[in-house]
Amino acid sequence: MTASCFLEGRGDLTEWRDAARRFLMAGIEPAEIDWRLRGDEQGLFDATATVFPNLRSSPTLTETDTIQVSVPLAFLRLAEAVVCHSNPGRFALLYRLLFRLKQERHLLDVKSDVDVVAAHGMHKSVGRDYHKMTAFVRFKEMPLPAGTVGRRRFFSWFEPDHFIVARVAPFFQRRFNDMDWIIATPRGSASWDGETLRTSTQPAQKPDISDETEELWRTYYASIFNPARLKVKMMMTEMPKKYWRNLPEADLIPGLIAGAEAQVMDMGRRQASEPLPFHHRLQAAAAQVQARPVVEIDTIESLRQEARHCSRCDLHCRATQTVFGEGPVDARLMIVGEQPGDQEDLEGRPFTGPAGRIFDEALSLAGLDRRMLYVTNAVKHFKYEPRGKRRIHRRPNMGEVQQCRWWLTREIHLVQPKVIVAMGATALFSLTDYKDRLEDLRGRSIVMEEGRTLFVTVHPSYLLRIPDEGRRAEELARFRDDIRRIGRFAA
Ligand code: URA
Repeated sequence: MTASCFLEGRGDLTEWRDAARRFLMAGIEPAEIDWRLRGDEQGLFDATATVFPNLRSSPTLTETDTIQVSVPLAFLRLAEAVVCHSNPGRFALLYRLLFRLKQERHLLDVKSDVDVVAAHGMHKSVGRDYHKMTAFVRFKEMPLPAGTVGRRRFFSWFEPDHFIVARVAPFFQRRFNDMDWIIATPRGSASWDGETLRTSTQPAQKPDISDETEELWRTYYASIFNPARLKVKMMMTEMPKKYWRNLPEADLIPGLIAGAEAQVMDMGRRQASEPLPFHHRLQAAAAQVQARPVVEIDTIESLRQEARHCSRCDLHCRATQTVFGEGPVDARLMIVGEQPGDQEDLEGRPFTGPAGRIFDEALSLAGLDRRMLYVTNAVKHFKYEPRGKRRIHRRPNMGEVQQCRWWLTREIHLVQPKVIVAMGATALFSLTDYKDRLEDLRGRSIVMEEGRTLFVTVHPSYLLRIPDEGRRAEELARFRDDIRRIGRFAA
């Protein structure tokens, strides 16, 4: 026998939860329930179907039954999102998960389970829709009725993919707290009057309104559009075409894209006659090169002093200082990283920031004393891109690495380490010119000139960037194993 259950299915978890509880308490198997949307009744009345219009009239349970079903909080959070999805299969999926959770308490941790995967997929899609709505709602001011005074009123039309209006409404309440607004959508509406946030699940019709706020949006958009940063593919992913019909600025986009190249060329032409940023530092460095006496570089200290004035590439212009290698001049083991990071640039010492902490931990787990090692970088100046108040790391290019190799080669010559470790692809390239996959060389001992041995491992910053916690832990363990093995070899 099939039990049919009719729901409004407009993003409200309670109606599904009440129905699901009753089914669960009655021991009804997932396959026995036909979840339907109201208004979808036709074609149902075959001989085997039992219709429970909203389950409150279910023959086995009454309104006064107290039903306690305990479920993990993670399931409730997931269900709150999934129930907003527009896929008609969402109710059955949630009930299957609920039913299985009775026996499999840790079901949600099984990342490969098809039901869990499907639910997470829906959760993600609802999250994406939420973010698109927060980004693409455009308010238009509605004039107050003639002769009245009061708060300004705004209206917006939006077309979400899922039933997310009630979920996203508190965001708009916080963000646009000081004005009255209505957001209407075909999947429900929300309004705020300074005191009460109201939501409705009723579909709304798109009204025909246009006003000068559209012109404001267009002007704003055209003024923030930066042709030099245009990445059409990324832009289309971030702002898919389906949203364009409700964005006043959308009809500007094709023209701005088409004109971007010419605009960039024009910017380039204008910039060519302007001095480079940090021009004064370049000039000062050039003047010093002429003025400084030629000194003999035969100790690591004289090399370090010389490197303070390095202007072999442009990176010195933006960096605070040269970050030279450090450690005993007779160290057996030399570690080579990529380039100093933000913190190292300020402190003037290698590996003192977050990557340095990972490195130090690995050393101490391997029983190695950092004070016995010579630690340096392939590139001695911090390369970054300013973003607001932050300086975002940028990978040095081949030319920069090749220029800076001048210093690294001399460091090796003066320290004469028996073992060198290249941490990351930049160090590996600097030491060997090898540009292919680092993993192909990892774990092997490579014979270098003068009987030295080279080992290759990943850069600790790479570990910091792995988003998945499980994978990060695995890779961290591998890195620590590499350092342990290298330490044993060097000893
Ligand atoms: N990353 C490096 O490669 N070197 C440092 O000194 C810091 C971070």
